[in-house]
Amino acid sequence: MAEEGIHLGAAHLGRIGLHGAARLLTCLQFLPVPLDQAWLLGVALHGSAGGLQDPCVRATKGQAVARCSIRSHASIQTAPHPRRRDALISSPPAPVSGPDDTLEPAASEPPWRQQLRASLGDLPAVRRRRLRSLAPAGAAALQPAAPEGATDARAGAASPPPPSPLLDLASNDYLGLSRDPAVLAAAAAELHASGLGATASRLICGTRPVHLELEQALAAWLGRERVLLFPSGFQANLAAVCALADRHSLVLADRLIHHSLLAGVRASGARLKRFAHNDPADLERLLLSERRARPEAPLLVLCESLYSMEGSTSPLAALASLCARHRVPLLVDEAHALGVLGPGGRGLAHDCSQVAIVSGTFGKAFGSGGAFLAGDSLVGDWLLQSSGAFRYTTALAPPLAAGALAALGRIQADPQAASALLERCGRWRDALEAAGWPRPPGEGPILSVRLGDDAAALAAQERLEAAGLLALAIRPPTVPEGTARLRLVLRTGLPSGTLEKLLVALGPGPRLSPASP
Ligand SMILES: Cc1ncc(COP(=O)(O)O)c(C=O)c1O
Repeated sequence: MAEEGIHLGAAHLGRIGLHGAARLLTCLQFLPVPLDQAWLLGVALHGSAGGLQDPCVRATKGQAVARCSIRSHASIQTAPHPRRRDALISSPPAPVSGPDDTLEPAASEPPWRQQLRASLGDLPAVRRRRLRSLAPAGAAALQPAAPEGATDARAGAASPPPPSPLLDLASNDYLGLSRDPAVLAAAAAELHASGLGATASRLICGTRPVHLELEQALAAWLGRERVLLFPSGFQANLAAVCALADRHSLVLADRLIHHSLLAGVRASGARLKRFAHNDPADLERLLLSERRARPEAPLLVLCESLYSMEGSTSPLAALASLCARHRVPLLVDEAHALGVLGPGGRGLAHDCSQVAIVSGTFGKAFGSGGAFLAGDSLVGDWLLQSSGAFRYTTALAPPLAAGALAALGRIQADPQAASALLERCGRWRDALEAAGWPRPPGEGPILSVRLGDDAAALAAQERLEAAGLLALAIRPPTVPEGTARLRLVLRTGLPSGTLEKLLVALGPGPRLSPASP
């Protein structure tokens, strides 16, 4: 069933995959040559890209298959996405309005700018994002501060003192390591010894002793043969999926996996099917039906161990043994679990030798930035030899590598910090439940308080902000429609009284609320 109305005609020359077709179509719309010189036949976009948010190709369920063929003459038949057709025939766009001056149409704008403006205009106010910091003024706090004692020229009065920062219930600095003295000192020493940047990729001359030391330390900590560093978790996930899947593969992914893994699936050209969140039985159903339909097709299974927006933890042992039974590789994103969950903070995949690749980032509990993939020596070598995302990028900045190594040392030296944090998480979950809120799933430091409606989640965020607390409303498309929530993140070092403050600001939950039936 074709879900997005894109059908182009001509003789068949080959398959280019969903991603290729999307890019081709995007380019063709803006070609300065008559389109009938390129005759396209048989592009049919079926079913799901699994929620991939490509503006040109957005489908919602089933398989994603794209076929595209090109022949030299004849005519084009198109039924593109309505917005894309606007751009194609360069008719003036419908006037857009909104709270933002980016939505004001400018005279004689080129079509691509009209397209961006129209897409922005489609965003409802409750879906618009803004840059946030821990300052009450949000993005305004990113502006340079006025010099001390400066006066407000309009009022002629001294500037009011800046409001005190909001209390952080939003960052992923679970163990407070972003400001740990040992971590800062290690990063500073490396900064002076090696400079700020690695200045080249790992395979040119970007490898420093600290990279190798960190890779070996992580491998020993996690009980894996090989670790490779990446500049970010997003990039690591892209590399991991592309290492284990290609356009012949089918990827089976938990419905709530992170966008970076979905981007990896798209980059690999693989087909995508989702299984119900944390549901090994649904995964098994998909594995069996796919094996029956295509016994030879390569498969890959993706999950996280601690879900970033849900706070739930995955039934990893069950998923791993299922994958082992079907002889299918399992890739586990441990971004939020490492440092906090599992024995000594080693994550939930620690005891699962069946896991083919563990993905970790230093951007969460490690308190800095950068990431890694861990696997056996075969997988490690395959990544090194084949991964463009690893090879064609400047190596992780040496001070970040040194900071991560010191953070690992702190995590190993003080396992109590993570267990005390988890105890606190249990107390917060109990208290929220007692206050009438649905118990946030999971056991880790991410507490997801479901409100359902976008506006209700934003209102809760504002009530907390008025009380001096920063916790963000998470709305679709980051989470499924109708599941907007407040994402509370706990960390070590929260001042006493924070929970009480939160409960007052949040008010009673639906179970105890007088308004609820
Ligand atoms: C589950 C998950 N995986 C990967 C990433 C990407 O990690 P990084 O911030 O290092 O790019 C994130 C960050 O948002 C994440 O939440």
